[in-house]
Amino acid sequence: MIFRQLFDGVSSTYSYLIASRRGGEALIIDPVLEKVDRYLQLVRELDLKLVKAVDTHIHADHITGLGALRDRTHCVTVMGENARVDVVSMRVVEGDKITIEGLALDVLYTPGHTDDSYSFLLSDRVFTGDTLLIRGTGRTDFQNGSARDQYESLFGKLLRLPEETLVFPAHDYKGDTVSTIGEEKRYNPRLQVKSVDEYVDLMSNLNLPNPKMMDVAVPANLRQGLAQDEVARKGWALNAVEAMALLQEKNVALVDLREQSERSKHGAIPGSLHAPYADLEDNIRRGGILYELACATGKRLVFYCAFGERSAMAVQAAQDAGLTSACHIHGGIAAWRQAQGALLPH
Ligand SMILES: [Fe+2]
Repeated sequence: MIFRQLFDGVSSTYSYLIASRRGGEALIIDPVLEKVDRYLQLVRELDLKLVKAVDTHIHADHITGLGALRDRTHCVTVMGENARVDVVSMRVVEGDKITIEGLALDVLYTPGHTDDSYSFLLSDRVFTGDTLLIRGTGRTDFQNGSARDQYESLFGKLLRLPEETLVFPAHDYKGDTVSTIGEEKRYNPRLQVKSVDEYVDLMSNLNLPNPKMMDVAVPANLRQGLAQDEVARKGWALNAVEAMALLQEKNVALVDLREQSERSKHGAIPGSLHAPYADLEDNIRRGGILYELACATGKRLVFYCAFGERSAMAVQAAQDAGLTSACHIHGGIAAWRQAQGALLPH
C-alpha cells in the first residue's frame, strides 16, 4: 500500500494520500486548497490516478481542496450524507464503503465535533477527522457540535476498535503524527472521564477562540458543487422532466455512472445501462462500449449519476471524445426522484 501523510503548516492539517499500488487508483482524505499543486505533483511522481477526494467534515480552519482536485483531475468528491455542502459527487452513510482499486474504507458516522463528522476505517488504521485527536478531541462548540454526541462517537465507536488500531487525525498542533486507540484510551486527558456528563462539562469549559479562518472557510466549504450551469449553457443538460419525455423515445441510451453500491441502495432509472464513472475513459474512447454503442446505433447518450456531478464531467469528456449528442440529467437521480421519476429497485 502507498500511504502518505501530508501536512499543511498554516492550518496544522493532515491530509492522507492512499493507494493500493504504484500505478493504481488513489484517494485523498481532507485535502487543503493551498496544497493541491503539491498533492498533484506527488500523484504524478508516484504514477497514481486520483479518483476520489474525501472530507471527514466541513472544516472551519481551512478551505478544502475537494473542488480544485475535482476540477483538475475529474475525481469524485465524497462527503457524508449529513454534510450541508451544496453538492458533492457521492454521499456516504455509516456502513457504506468508499472504494478504489484494491482498497475499501469503512464509513463510521462520528458526530460531535460537528454534526457532519465521519471517520474512515482502513484495516489497521482509522482516519478520525477532528473527532479523536492525538491526546485531544475536536472542539464541540460550533457547527452544530455536541459534546454528548462526541462522547457516544468516541466511547461507543472509535474506542471500541482494536487497541492496536492506528489513529490518524485531521490535525495536530504539537507535531505528533500518529497514535493508537489503546494509547489514546490510556493517555488522552479528555478520555479520562467517568460519564457523559463529566465529558460535557469538560468540553463546555474550554473557552476557545474561533478559528481565524472560520468566517472564510466555512462558507467556502459549503459551496463545493461543480458549475453544472456551465454544462447546461452548452446545451448538454436535461432537467428531470425533459429527461422523462426524452426517454419515451427509442433513440436514447441512458447510462448510469454510479457505483453498484449506490444502485443497490437508491435504485436506478428503468432501462439504464450501468457503466461506472471509474471506467468512463475506457468506455468513451474508440473501441469502448459507449463509443461503439453510440456510433453503431446512433443513439444519444444520456448520462446520470447521484447529483449530476459525475455526469456533468462525463458529458464534457464524451463531447471531447467526439460523441457530440451526449448530454446528462442535471441534478442526477436526486432531481429525478424529486420530479417523481420512476425508479427500479436493484
Ligand atoms: Fe474541524
